[in-house]
Amino acid sequence: MKKSVSVLDILNKKGKQPIVMVTSYDATMTRIVDEADIDIILVGDSAGNVMAGLDNTLGVTMEMMLQYVVSVTRVKPKALVIADMPFLSYQTSVPDAVRNAGRFLQEAGAQAVKLEGAQRVIEQVKAIVRADIPVMGHLGLTPQSIHAFGGYKVQGRGEEAAKLLKENALLLQDAGVFSLVLECVPAAVAKEVSEALSIPTIGIGAGPDCDGQVLVIQDLLGMNKEFKPKFVKRYAFLFDTIKDAVNTYAKEVRSRAYPDEEHCFKS
Ligand code: KIV
Repeated sequence: MKKSVSVLDILNKKGKQPIVMVTSYDATMTRIVDEADIDIILVGDSAGNVMAGLDNTLGVTMEMMLQYVVSVTRVKPKALVIADMPFLSYQTSVPDAVRNAGRFLQEAGAQAVKLEGAQRVIEQVKAIVRADIPVMGHLGLTPQSIHAFGGYKVQGRGEEAAKLLKENALLLQDAGVFSLVLECVPAAVAKEVSEALSIPTIGIGAGPDCDGQVLVIQDLLGMNKEFKPKFVKRYAFLFDTIKDAVNTYAKEVRSRAYPDEEHCFKS
């Protein structure tokens, strides 16, 4: 039987083995991905896009996230479960941040939380870490800041921006985060940041030199026909597989081929 993954296991992988993280938001998908050989399940606020049908992550609330996280932890995955803190659950104040981070552990069974940003939320990060709640940072294209960024744009381009990204990464490391997501930053910048840190970096659109990689599970499985940013590699195209299966079912229902004898109860 596979052993449960801890935050220490993740820290110890730096420089030894790339870390594999995927998102999941429900029990069925969690059972599947946890049977695969992965290290971390991120219950991302990308749930807003892929589960709730929102245009961005800004409409995701604590109550929504608690529900997604508990749906994942109920099946007791071996992978480390990290809960993503939604917009306004930590930016507002240090007490809000600690209380909401704690709710993910106390009420939903997560083992760690993730939040976006550095300088503006550094006191929140320190306070959550002081409460013995492991924190994963997130820099680069942080989707909760899309309006401030003016859209989904690669971050850390140019000398100044790259320098700031590295400073922020070091700031988060000093504040006690155990790992750091780098989203949509040039590969060379992600490499430099990864080399400067003693904690692992997990990349998404950040090149091959991060200490691990993460993809949204629906993107990895090709479940979104329209959404295919440059960094997404589809390892399956389930959109067509599912559509074809449902069409076959529809045909069989209409032709009365289903249910056949095999799928009927005998009297
Ligand atoms: O919400 C999410 O799924 C994320 C990952 C893409 C890193 O933040």
